[in-house]
Amino acid sequence: MDAFNLLKADHRKVEKLFSELESARGQAKMRVFEQIKTELELHTHIEETIFYPALEEPKQTHDLTLEAYEEHDVVKKLLSELSRANKVSEEWEAKAKVLQENVEHHVEEEENELFKKADAALSEEQIETLGEQMASEKERMQTGKAGRAPSSKKSSGAKKSASKSKSASTAQKRVRASKKGASKSSSKSSASKRSRSSKKSTKKSR
Ligand SMILES: [Fe+2]
Repeated sequence: MDAFNLLKADHRKVEKLFSELESARGQAKMRVFEQIKTELELHTHIEETIFYPALEEPKQTHDLTLEAYEEHDVVKKLLSELSRANKVSEEWEAKAKVLQENVEHHVEEEENELFKKADAALSEEQIETLGEQMASEKERMQTGKAGRAPSSKKSSGAKKSASKSKSASTAQKRVRASKKGASKSSSKSSASKRSRSSKKSTKKSR
C-alpha cells in the first residue's frame, strides 16, 4: 500500500462527507459531522504518528511538515468546538464551513506540495512501508480501540496534549527538533515558519 494513495483516499472520503454535510439538515447534519470527526481524527493520528515523523528529517519536506502539524492543530480545535454543540445553529454552520475550508487548504497543500517533495525525498520502499504502517494502525484504531501505542516519535500521551493545547504542541515540536540535533538557526527558522503558518491559519479561519 502506497502511503500517498492511502492518504489521498482518506482525503476523497472526507471531501464527500463535507458535501453531504452541506445538504444534510438538523440531527442528520450532526450525524454526518460525527463521521467527519471520526475520519479526521483517524487521519491526523496516522499522519502525525507515522507519516510526518518520516518527513521531518529530509530538508525538502521539513518546513512543510511543521506547517502541516500546525494546520492539524487548527482542525482539531475546530472539531472540538463543533462537537460541544448538541444542535445545529447559524454559528455552528459558520464554524463547520471554516473547518471545511481549513481541511481543503491542508489537503491541497499536502497533495500539491508535500507529497511531491516526499516522493523525491523518500525511497519507493519507504513510501510503501509507511503506507503499510498507516493502514495497519488505522485498522488497529478502528477495530481494537485502545491498545499498544504505535512505534512513533510522538507518544499517544503527547498527542492528547497536542490536541488540547496549541502551545503545548509547539513546545513538543521544539523538543523534537532539538532532539534531532537541529542547530539554533534552523530551530529559529522553524519558529518563524511556525509563526507564519499560524498567521496563515488565522487568516484562513476568518
Ligand atoms: Fe494532514
